[in-house]
Amino acid sequence: MENLQTQGISLPGLGLGTFRMQGEACRAAVESALGLGYRHIDTAEMYGNEDAIGAALAASGVARRDLHVTTKVWHENLAPDAIRRAFGASLKKLKLDQVDLYLVHWPSRNMDLAAIFETLLGLKQEGRTRAIGVANFNVALLKTVVEEIKAPIACNQIEYHVMLDQTKLAKDLASKSIPLVAYAPLAQGRAASDETLISIGRKHGASAAQVALKWLLDQDGVAAIPKASRTESQRANLDALKLKLDDEDRKAIAALPKGRRFVNPGFAPAWD
Ligand SMILES: NC(=O)c1ccc[n+]([C@@H]2O[C@H](COP(=O)([O-])OP(=O)(O)OC[C@H]3O[C@@H](n4cnc5c(N)ncnc54)[C@H](OP(=O)(O)O)[C@@H]3O)[C@@H](O)[C@H]2O)c1
Repeated sequence: MENLQTQGISLPGLGLGTFRMQGEACRAAVESALGLGYRHIDTAEMYGNEDAIGAALAASGVARRDLHVTTKVWHENLAPDAIRRAFGASLKKLKLDQVDLYLVHWPSRNMDLAAIFETLLGLKQEGRTRAIGVANFNVALLKTVVEEIKAPIACNQIEYHVMLDQTKLAKDLASKSIPLVAYAPLAQGRAASDETLISIGRKHGASAAQVALKWLLDQDGVAAIPKASRTESQRANLDALKLKLDDEDRKAIAALPKGRRFVNPGFAPAWD
């Protein structure tokens, strides 16, 4: 699997998303994924599953140095002391001394970006997270973080899939050499039943979901974190890496309607 090199970490291009996975089912799904060869697990304090993931990581026998673990701080915990408290709780639940990537999960309207990144940088300097980054940041916020605060951002994790145009943010991130980590890469499962993707998949002996995933992973500087609780889907998503899309496929995907954003909580600042 191809890894993205960013701010001193090597991020596996395909990871496992874990939103809405809970308890024993989450532990089993993460163990299954690690057994299949996944080495990048995406979680967040808000998902309420870091303890289950910690149990799966501990039981897997996979060497810590071979694993990439991302977690995130919720938008209500962005004051410096709250970040430190949330971070400590996440590490404890994950049963780790260090995470690989710690992200601001969502921007909030009244956040103090300089104070946030001073705190995150402190955690990085203390060796408790190997890298720091953001999720759901728009172009204007990225400009402040990168150009004014000069924070060493290892990624921006955003919603990105065949049904949503992200050209503007993707170009901006590429110009800053910051990887784009695509969340909801299967449009929350909807990609699996899209007729255009089904017919492209038929041509290659692949599923529509595999087509959607490979379309993302073929793009420079893009990683994807599909959530899959079933072992067959986890395996299918790994197998998507072998698929070879051609120009005709890419043209058909480019022509799909691209205005469908499925994640848009009311508390976040505007996208543009
Ligand atoms: N930073 C953020 O604000 C943010 C926001 C949303 C999500 N995320 C992260 O991104 C991850 C992925 O996003 P998501 O969970 O919203 O949506 P997603 O990955 O686009 O879609 C997940 C759905 O697709 C199904 N699926 C997975 N592989 C499949 C396959 N090969 N064929 C058919 N169906 C398949 C899953 O089914 P089963 O589970 O039943 O197998 C599940 O219902 C999250 O889990 C989370 O880690 C981050």
